[in-house]
Amino acid sequence: MLQLSTFLLIKLLITLKKSVKRSLNFKTYLVLCAFTVVSNVAMSNVDLPRVKNCMSCHTVNRKLIGPAFKDVATKYANHPNQKEIEDQLVQKVMKGGSGAWGVVPMPANTQVNEKEARLLVKWILSLKKS
Ligand code: HEC
Repeated sequence: MLQLSTFLLIKLLITLKKSVKRSLNFKTYLVLCAFTVVSNVAMSNVDLPRVKNCMSCHTVNRKLIGPAFKDVATKYANHPNQKEIEDQLVQKVMKGGSGAWGVVPMPANTQVNEKEARLLVKWILSLKKS
């Protein structure tokens, strides 16, 4: 999954490398690289739901058209079979459906593939209220 932000950062790094080669040593460059990679990974979990349009109906903390993602995490937190819940939610994100939270249906999200849906569901389920 090469996101736009990742792509832009790689481009930036290449430019940076060219321009700082003379003034910075290689160690500094490596530190900069590591920092960019780490911050990009940290960012991607926030980016993907926005890029994939989930946030037009959901927020993390408040019910919008769909349930708050924290509430989704809390609802399934004590389910004995987490793998089953994950699979079920991946299918639901991709195909849509209603009845778990009310009568308003979630439309199919054809813009996500299964890998992305799984990543999103894993992230959502990790948002349990602490
Ligand atoms: C057009 C509005 C809309 C969009 C866009 C949308 N959702 Fe939903 N979502 C809903 C609604 C409404 C529900 C409640 C469905 C129900 O009651 O079963 C829901 C429910 C869910 C649930 C809980 C399902 C369950 O069975 O408990 C998850 C997880 C979820 N959405 C994730 C996502 C993700 C990830 C995306 C982006 C790829 C997304 N949604 C995009 C409206 C939306």
